Amino acid sequence: MAEISLEDIGKLAEEATEAIVGAATPQALDHVRVTYLGRQGKLTLLLRGIGQLPADLRPQAGKEANRSRQLIEAAIESRREQLATEEAAGRGTDALDVTLPGRGPQVGHRHPLMTTLEHILDIFVGMGYTAVQGPEVEWCALNWTALNYPPDHPAMDEQDSFYITDQIMLRTQTSTAQIRAMRARHDESCPVRALDWRCPPQEALAACCCTPAPTRVVVPGRTYRRENVTLTHSDIFYQVECLLVDEGVTFADLKGTLATFLRAYLGPNTRVRFRPDFFPFTEPSADFSVNCEFCDAQGCRFCKDSGWVEIGGSGLVHPNVLIAGGYDPDRVSGFAFGFGLERLAQRRFGIQHIRTLYENDMRFLRQF
Ligand code: DAH
Repeated sequence: MAEISLEDIGKLAEEATEAIVGAATPQALDHVRVTYLGRQGKLTLLLRGIGQLPADLRPQAGKEANRSRQLIEAAIESRREQLATEEAAGRGTDALDVTLPGRGPQVGHRHPLMTTLEHILDIFVGMGYTAVQGPEVEWCALNWTALNYPPDHPAMDEQDSFYITDQIMLRTQTSTAQIRAMRARHDESCPVRALDWRCPPQEALAACCCTPAPTRVVVPGRTYRRENVTLTHSDIFYQVECLLVDEGVTFADLKGTLATFLRAYLGPNTRVRFRPDFFPFTEPSADFSVNCEFCDAQGCRFCKDSGWVEIGGSGLVHPNVLIAGGYDPDRVSGFAFGFGLERLAQRRFGIQHIRTLYENDMRFLRQF
């Protein structure tokens, strides 16, 4: 037998440790054990060779070989435990638990505000309205003057605004689209279509040389106000505006249309309440509310203890607004109403705080 050295014993221990760490299964680990410690194992044979060494080397070689043996045994034991825990945790390389639920891709969906909006537009389209849009960055003239706000009228205070220049602002209400929608109903050749939006309102009627078609539009869009965020208010929010101009339109048409819409959207048992209000662009004007669902009309934080939730404003279109749209108020009349989309979505889905609609918290959004 070839001479053995202390170095050989050390190398063998190293080699064995590497094989132990690399053993991926209990079976592979067993194989490693037999290879080194079995009856014909590498270390066993080495130990046997010690007897042939010169007597002065024997004690040290024996000591070294025994130490290696203990090292290898301990390494095998710890690896065995490790493999057992991995298997228990289902992480063993060939462990496959077919009863575990699969991991599908995350599928997105529409935001609850957009589903609300689609549903609402569907109802209006079903009643014969056309959905149109207007710009969010708008002429002050269309946000105020053409809607019959006198210069410096205190009603403007209710809608603290963001101005871009002294003539251009972020619209505070979708009512701005009323003028655009009405002027678009004039004949292609009628000069009203080409008028500057900032012209004095009376000029629109004076310029008209046609009989404009009825206006029947619903206008959804984002609006902006300098407001503090509360349970029901936000500085950016969606409004939906509805405008009907035709011959012989009365307040009864307004009430009927609004009630039909609100019951179609919120359910047939919805109660609707009208109260006198003031808006410069309607006369007479009324706000409208529905019964609070959070407290079943008992009074709560959401309805400010009144049992009713105010949804929006409405009224018969003021003659001056018809004039700004190029319509003759002696020939036609109209109604208009507008409401906040969020408030209606909150009422419909039982969402107490408006903020949750904007935070994009997945735990909230997944519920829809
Ligand atoms: N624009 C009003 C607001 O933001 C709501 C409103 C009131 C719209 C009366 C209308 C209306 O069309 O007729 O407070």
